[in-house]
Amino acid sequence: MVRIILCGFGVVGQSFAKLLLSRSEDLYAKHGLKARIVGVFDSKGSAASSAGIDLNRLLETKKLYGNIAKYHNKEKKANGLDMINGMEAEVLIETTPSNYKDAEPGMSHIVSAMKRGLHVVTVNKGPLALAFPSLIELAAYNQVQLKFSGTVGGGTPILDYAKNSLRGERIVSFQGILNGTTNYILTNMAGGMNFKEALSDAKKKGYVEADESLDIEGFDAAAKLVILANWIMDMKVTIMDIKRKGIRDVTTTDITNARSRRSAVKLIASCNRDLEVSPREIPLDDPLCVNGTLNAITFNSEHSGQQTIIGRGAGGMETASSILRDLLDIKQEVGKI
Ligand code: HSE
Repeated sequence: MVRIILCGFGVVGQSFAKLLLSRSEDLYAKHGLKARIVGVFDSKGSAASSAGIDLNRLLETKKLYGNIAKYHNKEKKANGLDMINGMEAEVLIETTPSNYKDAEPGMSHIVSAMKRGLHVVTVNKGPLALAFPSLIELAAYNQVQLKFSGTVGGGTPILDYAKNSLRGERIVSFQGILNGTTNYILTNMAGGMNFKEALSDAKKKGYVEADESLDIEGFDAAAKLVILANWIMDMKVTIMDIKRKGIRDVTTTDITNARSRRSAVKLIASCNRDLEVSPREIPLDDPLCVNGTLNAITFNSEHSGQQTIIGRGAGGMETASSILRDLLDIKQEVGKI
C-alpha cells in the first residue's frame, strides 16, 4: 500500500484523484499498485485521513465550495508542512504552481519530504529549475526516489525516452518546442492574428499561465530545458544558465517573411554549444514544426541519428498520467511499497 500526500488540488491534483478513482482496480490487478491518498492540501485548506480520503467526496467538496477546507465538518486550515512533517506516508506528490523566483512553496515541500524519507513525484518545475543538482543529491543522500517525468512534455514521456530508450547512445544535441501556449499563439499568428489577438485567444482557451510572462517570456521553456540538460546531458545547470528570449517581440512581418522561406517561427529550446530559448525559423517540412498546443523535440544522437517525439505537453489528465507513471516506477525501483 502506498500512502500519498498530495500538495495542490488544482487541475492536475484533481485529475490525479479522478485517475486513481477510475483506475484503482486495474492498477492493482496489472501492477500490484494500491494507492491511498491520506492527506491533501492547497493554499486554502486541507483534508486528512490515515484510513484514506474519500476522493469522490473531496472532488465534490472542491466543486461545491471552490476549496477543500469543508471536507471535514470542522474546516482544516492549510498546514502543508505540518502534514508533510507529521503524517505517515510513503510518497509526496507536488503539484503546486511553478515559481522561478524562489521556487516556493514547492521547494520546502519537496525538501522536507525527502529529509523525512518520503519519495517525491513533482510536476512543479520551479524547484528543479532553480536547484536541480542539489535536489538530486538530497534524494540520493536520503535514499529516496525523486521523479519528475511530467515536468517536460506532460503526458508525453520525453525524459524517459531520452534517458531510458536511448540508453547506451550519446545524445549530442537536441532542440524542441517545449511550451504549448506560445506554440498556439505563434500558430494563430501564422493564421493571420496579431500577437495581441493571439494572446487574448490563448487566454480565453485557458492555456496561458496565471502569470503570462512564464509562457510568453520563455521561463517555462527555459525551466524544461534545465531539466533536460541536467537529466539527459549530465550538465549541472539552473535557469540562470539559460540564454532566454520570449515571443513578445515576434511580429506578423517576421512570420510572413519566414513563410516566404517555407519556414515558421517557433519558440525553440536548444542544447547545442549553448543552452538557449528563443524564437527561431524552422522549415515547414521539419518534423519539429508542429502546430497548435503540441510539443515536439528532436534528439540528435551519435549512432542512431535524429529522432523526434511529438505529443501534448500539458493538460490535467495528461499530466496526471505522468504522475501515475512515476508512481509505478517508484514501486518498481523500491519494491516493497
Ligand atoms: N504553460 C505550459 C505550456 C504548461 O503552455 O506548455 C505545461 O507546462
